[in-house]
Amino acid sequence: MPSQPTLRPDNRLFVALDLPDGLRDLLAAVGAQVARDAGGRAVPAENMHLTVAFLGTVPVAAGPQLCERLVEALAGPAPRLRPGRPVARPSPRRAQLVAVELDDVDGVLADMAARVERVCGAVLSGYAADRRPFWPHVTVARFRRPGDVRRFPPIEHEHVFDITRASLYDSHITPGEPPRYEALKEVMLDGSFAERSPSHG
Ligand code: 2AM
Repeated sequence: MPSQPTLRPDNRLFVALDLPDGLRDLLAAVGAQVARDAGGRAVPAENMHLTVAFLGTVPVAAGPQLCERLVEALAGPAPRLRPGRPVARPSPRRAQLVAVELDDVDGVLADMAARVERVCGAVLSGYAADRRPFWPHVTVARFRRPGDVRRFPPIEHEHVFDITRASLYDSHITPGEPPRYEALKEVMLDGSFAERSPSHG
């Protein structure tokens, strides 16, 4: 069995799909346009991901079992995603973030998210209690003060992107700076259960 990472006591974990460069470039361009037009902050392309599950702070002792079970849950066919519409939350007049929704072309991502949710529910007590429903999106811009984004840049893109990797991340938060996401575990989604630990390869 591959070695499992040791969790920091103040970890803030989430499971996410890593995005191919072409998709990140497209999303970064939307974020840049939103920031230009409405004054928000574009999410840097290297920080873009699609969150499959947000785990929050996980007990350090649960780390090894959680990682082992997540690797099993994530392994499987690679999702295929098509960029969809930009959405402002909580509303276009008073946006705190703009995200682009991703269309789960074959339903592979929804199946993966359900497997991950089952694992989190089984391993982490109280996990299901305050969960937001799964929303396949990538946040492209954030606002410190609510922004007005009623005129969205259109996305005219029919391309479908293959996703080849999912990761368990720890999010390092420093006030006033963009978060830094540390990959604790990476799982290749080529269907052949190829798995590697970032520190070993
Ligand atoms: P967001 O992009 O919609 O803000 C790291 O913070 C990732 O976890 C981000 O993708 C973020 O989603 C997501 N996230 C943060 N807090 C969350 C929560 N309480 N529920 C679900 N996702 C969350």
